[in-house]
Amino acid sequence: MRKRNMLDHLNHKEPIWNAGMGLGLAGPDLVAAISGAGGFGVLGAGAMPAGAIKSMIEATKKLTKKPLGANIIIPMSDGSDVAACFDAGVKVVVLFWGDVQPYIKDAQKKGIYIVSQCGSVEEAVIAADAGASGIIMQGTEAGGHVKAKSPLFETLQSCARELGAIPTIASGGIGTGKDILKALTSGAEAVSMGTRFLATTESSAAKEYKERLILANSDDTVITKLFDGGWADANHRVVMNDAYNRWVDNDSRSPGQRPGEGSQIGTVSIEDTLVPLTRYTTYPPTSAFDGDIEEMPLYAGTSVSQVREVISVATLMSTLSIEYKKALLEKA
Ligand SMILES: Cc1cc2nc3c(=O)[nH]c(=O)nc-3n(C[C@H](O)[C@H](O)[C@H](O)COP(=O)(O)O)c2cc1C
Repeated sequence: MRKRNMLDHLNHKEPIWNAGMGLGLAGPDLVAAISGAGGFGVLGAGAMPAGAIKSMIEATKKLTKKPLGANIIIPMSDGSDVAACFDAGVKVVVLFWGDVQPYIKDAQKKGIYIVSQCGSVEEAVIAADAGASGIIMQGTEAGGHVKAKSPLFETLQSCARELGAIPTIASGGIGTGKDILKALTSGAEAVSMGTRFLATTESSAAKEYKERLILANSDDTVITKLFDGGWADANHRVVMNDAYNRWVDNDSRSPGQRPGEGSQIGTVSIEDTLVPLTRYTTYPPTSAFDGDIEEMPLYAGTSVSQVREVISVATLMSTLSIEYKKALLEKA
């Protein structure tokens, strides 16, 4: 008999997680809507102070009684954010871009599952050996920061085979129910989707950002290291915009020599304080941003081709389920 794993214990109906898109892009409304529709909701707690994370978790618990996840970006963490997630009672902490080992013992003591989003099978095996309860295998199609070294379906099967009883969750470029079926038949037990949930009414992305996603296709996205203010030397996939095109037109110069570097491009309102943002910031345009999104990182995966309108999470989840069933019938 197959050993019960984390997903059996979490017991959500649909094999769908949302990516914990940072700085609250995946906030309480999004997460509650996803768990309400049978998926597993992950709060985007990356790059946020511990106090704000605790408030975000408490606000989510008022909206749903389902178990919650929270995502933390290790290179942007001082440890207090992970501690805040542990103390505020999430069931899963998804860690990205680093060694999970230092967090395992404490998590196990508290009955919390650590999941590692990984960019290669080697990294996945190391995280699983260190005690991760699940692995999100990322492909280079992914939006946002991209640790992946290969397209998703080049690594997914071997990742699942290497991990055995530890569940593999597929991420990167998944935009339809047909993609979900392909992931599940390639060894994944669930999928983690970012871009499609970004373009829902419940996400905290700025309205203009969501509108820009509707107009973009996968060919309009690119992997770059341009938006490095806050997290340097890390690949990320964005929709090409004025800031990106201007940089390319100016010989794709190195940091320190780029057009308009250091100038203010807008503000973000954080707890009633207006914080200035400078050009090439890592900060995404959330609903708290005021300025020109053409100067901001418009993170999106190749799955942006499937974004054609801003819809509710419930509509998206039922569309994915219908597409999945149709693809299953076609395959039979
Ligand atoms: C707007 C945006 C923000 C993201 N922020 C995070 C983050 O804070 N932490 C993280 O682990 N991954 C983050 N990601 C990457 C996702 O975890 C995931 O790999 C990606 O969304 C999958 O590709 P898809 O967008 O095509 O579904 C982000 C992705 C997007 C699109």
